[in-house]
Amino acid sequence: MDNFEVNKIVGAVLGTALFVLCLGFLADMIYATPKLEKQAYIVETLVADTLENSDTDNIVVEGPSLTELLSLASSEKGKNVSKKCASCHNFEAGMPNKVGPNLYGIVDRKIASVAEFSYSSALSEKFEEGDLWNFESLDSFLESPKKWVPGTNMSFAGIKKPKDRANIIAYLLEISPESNSKIINN
Ligand code: HEC
Repeated sequence: MDNFEVNKIVGAVLGTALFVLCLGFLADMIYATPKLEKQAYIVETLVADTLENSDTDNIVVEGPSLTELLSLASSEKGKNVSKKCASCHNFEAGMPNKVGPNLYGIVDRKIASVAEFSYSSALSEKFEEGDLWNFESLDSFLESPKKWVPGTNMSFAGIKKPKDRANIIAYLLEISPESNSKIINN
């Protein structure tokens, strides 16, 4: 091989390398994504705008409905919650009234209807003659007895958690064999 030939080979190799290098730069230039200076800026302003222009006073954050809670309720957990009531109520058939009336069969039972129990006039008068206890009225009463029936003799602060109320209602339903109401459990 003479010098001339070596030069040709070296030249060809260098030329190819240069070509590949240039191609790389070119590709970078074409496909490079510009970096965002401030990401999500547009989203931020959009959300802020929406909140500013909407009537935030009317946005109510609602939890699940009573029906939804009841469909997930556990009478077993409700039986636990019922310990809070046990100082004043019996839950079994044929047991005597305590400070409060026996609650056996309470779902779909006439409100304030245990014959030998003397109810407050507040509870008797809150409802129409013949009204029955249902899921909604039990839920409202148990959330805050004094607030829902001002003047009731039931001295009980109430059960604050909607889930706990759903559980105890499921338990009350379980001990109400004559009730027509149903909690649909999936
Ligand atoms: C400190 C005693 C006390 C506790 C605790 C108590 N109750 Fe009562 N409850 C009463 C009294 C007294 C009445 C009667 C209210 C009236 O006449 O105004 C009553 C009435 C009721 C009634 C209406 C019964 C009917 O025949 O119409 C229901 C339902 C009830 N209680 C459920 C409960 C549940 C469930 C709990 C527990 C989560 C509970 N109570 C805890 C004293 C109590």
